[in-house]
Amino acid sequence: MKFFIDTANIEEIKDAVLMGVLDGVTTNPSLAAKESAPYRDLLKEICKVVSGPVSAEVLATDFEGMVKEANELVEIADNIVVKIPTISEGLKAIKALNQQGIMTNATLVFSPSQALLVAKAGASYVSPFIGRLDDISSLGMDLIQNIVTIYNNYNFNTEVLVASVRHPMHVVEAALIGADVCTMPYKVIKNLIKHPLTDIGLKKFIADYKKANKDK
Ligand code: E4P
Repeated sequence: MKFFIDTANIEEIKDAVLMGVLDGVTTNPSLAAKESAPYRDLLKEICKVVSGPVSAEVLATDFEGMVKEANELVEIADNIVVKIPTISEGLKAIKALNQQGIMTNATLVFSPSQALLVAKAGASYVSPFIGRLDDISSLGMDLIQNIVTIYNNYNFNTEVLVASVRHPMHVVEAALIGADVCTMPYKVIKNLIKHPLTDIGLKKFIADYKKANKDK
């Protein structure tokens, strides 16, 4: 499973690159709004440190506007993937951009029917938002299982990109199901490595060694 980081913060991205686990980045307008630089400047900087796919979202909601914005975004760098909202106009844009050879990420997906449509339209990635479903007492991970089953049934090439990830078990469950990609906040990447027994064991190794060697 590929690991993407879900942030527009360049320091978090650089640290994840150093950890050696990063395959790509997803951003959205809300994440960009947390940073001080303009969105397109941020994207340029991100693409300098990450060679894998970097998702950048359009703000337009009409077909022509989305296609125009997508063509501007891909000028920023070769690895830009354009995030398109999963609405009727978005389907048209995904189809047109696919014909142009521009990679797309269908965002804000909450149902198997939406996932089926964006795959048929030719989306490169589908982004089901599992955390937001969990938030309203619906099982987000069931959606991932259903989409993986549907895509396998018909050999769709669209990659399943698990989004709106809140904690490490979301990542583990996505991997057990066989999702292609999981995008997660920086804090989730950091929490994935933590285990109290590792910390206890490490403390004891160092203490035992120091005790045994204090007079040597
Ligand atoms: C994915 O591409 C989105 O940017 C993101 O995962 C949304 O997560 P949220 O529900 O925590 O805002």
